[in-house]
Amino acid sequence: LVGLHFIPVSFSLEATIGKKNTIEALNGTDVLLPCTFATCMGFMNLKFWWTRENNGTSTKLFEGMIRKKDDDVIQQDKADRIEFAGGKGNNISIILKAVDFEDTGKYACHVLNPLEKNLEHEAVAVLTVLSEFFDKPLSTVSQDYWYIISFNGGLIGLTILIMVTKKVIIFIMKKAREKKKECLVSSSGNDNTENGLSGSKVDPKGSPKA
Ligand SMILES: *[C@@H]1O[C@H](CO)[C@@H](O)[C@H](O)[C@H]1NC(C)=O
Ligand SMILES: *[C@@H]1O[C@H](CO)[C@@H](O)[C@H](O)[C@H]1NC(C)=O
Repeated sequence: LVGLHFIPVSFSLEATIGKKNTIEALNGTDVLLPCTFATCMGFMNLKFWWTRENNGTSTKLFEGMIRKKDDDVIQQDKADRIEFAGGKGNNISIILKAVDFEDTGKYACHVLNPLEKNLEHEAVAVLTVLSEFFDKPLSTVSQDYWYIISFNGGLIGLTILIMVTKKVIIFIMKKAREKKKECLVSSSGNDNTENGLSGSKVDPKGSPKA
């Protein structure tokens, strides 16, 4: 997620989770729930809050306010295991600490701008808490696997290439040697033309001076 955000081009207030709104975390770890907001209308006393959405019930996790641009966030309410992680510019991310399997679900980041007639917007992140490395969906694991596969594949490919190259070189050398031998044989054969042993190629009618 870091560094790969779209800069939201919005005229009115908008909250954004990021490029991907699905988040995966291992059980027991801390997870960043990212959110930024943007508006071209300017803001004053902007309110924002995070909620956990669970079967139609909404639980507030964090509440804050930013009086004006470049001001620090005023923290107003905070649930256990929640830590504010934003603060820089329009970053209103939070950290959910020591995630458990029950934390799997939807998290919404809300913003409200009084300067835009209390216009509200929200963005939803979907968190999945996983138990082990191999619980990870293939999409996130595959990269590691691909490295291993491609690395090993590369090694195997290289070994094959070396073997083939070796074979080819040996073949060429053998052929060269055979050629030499052939030359030797044929030359010796030429020497034996008189005996008619291997001199069949030499036209017997042509060679003797008529
Ligand atoms: C999940 O994490 C908690 C806290 O770290 C731990 O006590 C528990 O054993 C973990 N459960 C699994 C299935 O990994
Ligand atoms: C928001 O802040 C968090 C924590 O400091 C950081 O990891 C994240 O990259 C920031 N998001 C953006 C869009 O700058």
